[in-house]
Amino acid sequence: MKIKIFILFVWAIVLFSNFTFQDSTYKAQSLKEAFKKDFAIGTALNSAQIEERNPRVNNLIVQQFNMATPENVMKSALLHPKWDTYDFTMADKLIAFGHKNNIKINGHTLIWHSQLPGFMRRIQSSDSVKTFFTDHIKTVASHFKGKVFSWDVVNEALNEDGTLRNSVFFQKLGENYVTEAFRLTQEASPNTELYYNDYNNEQPAKRAGCIRLIKKIQEAGVRIDGVGIQGHWHLGKIPFKDIEESILQYAALGIKVMITELDIEILPRNFQGAEVSQRMANNAESNPYPNGLPDEIQKQLADDYETLFKLFLKHKDKVTRVTFWGVNDGDSWLNNWPIRGRTNYPLLFDRNNQPKPAYFKVIGLKE
Ligand code: XIL
Repeated sequence: MKIKIFILFVWAIVLFSNFTFQDSTYKAQSLKEAFKKDFAIGTALNSAQIEERNPRVNNLIVQQFNMATPENVMKSALLHPKWDTYDFTMADKLIAFGHKNNIKINGHTLIWHSQLPGFMRRIQSSDSVKTFFTDHIKTVASHFKGKVFSWDVVNEALNEDGTLRNSVFFQKLGENYVTEAFRLTQEASPNTELYYNDYNNEQPAKRAGCIRLIKKIQEAGVRIDGVGIQGHWHLGKIPFKDIEESILQYAALGIKVMITELDIEILPRNFQGAEVSQRMANNAESNPYPNGLPDEIQKQLADDYETLFKLFLKHKDKVTRVTFWGVNDGDSWLNNWPIRGRTNYPLLFDRNNQPKPAYFKVIGLKE
């Protein structure tokens, strides 16, 4: 009996010391835990990450995030390579990865003018575009029914002035195509949240167009659950007022607001936004920090992220998710867009998966 009590006693001490050890080293917590009562924290995942090729990156993903968006593997060019062929291999791996790690998946994206399959460039007739549009949505949304938490049903349908972009879908299907995309997705996957996603839609003119688009969907009796503001912003030039105004105006439509592709551009850029076909010429000043970020820029990045998250927290009843466009600086798309081969620093984790000063400022808001 005494021995049993003694063993229990030792076991209790071991357990206790383990917990206190974890607590004391865990002051910085993780993003997903720090904000769990406020909003979900997401990241974009690329193929290497979905396949768990780097254990350190994998640990970071699993530790920090509770939502994920595929960076590319659910885009139509990859899912639907030929007219009558779908390839779900990588996307299914992402679903399994999410399942295993308690990470909800936001499907990205059903209807978008970029990264379309090659055969779409050769299609001329409206009928064929209509067939592609309908089959693609039905097949893909049905395949992931009950497996994705949400869909970016339509991505980037608007011009900067708030009018509808002259995409192949607009040209061949007319202005109701956005509403139709939501209707078809709802039919194929009734319990999935449905979002409209765009960049610069916090800017007043584009925001007004976005509101018109959302109202049109609602007035047609079709469900839309939320709007994504991508959040590809620029160091020292984040439009905080426009972001706040947009959160308020979108939420007033009765829908959720998400920041869906957050990163902060550090490097020289002569335009705003994230039109992936736009490029910039390389010159001697294009890549100023190949060997590391100067302290004052690191500090400005931390301050910008802190102010942003203060704003998101202020509106946590309206903002349901904040997703970063990438896990660490090394795999950010901004190293290769709009100029290839630059060294960029747009995220909260550095190239060695270490938290940056910006991470501590953001998480500090909850400590
Ligand atoms: C980007 C990816 O990050 C790149 O890897 C790819 O080459 C191009 O697309 N808006 C979006 C995202 O909605 O899908 C884009 O992702 C970035 C801009």
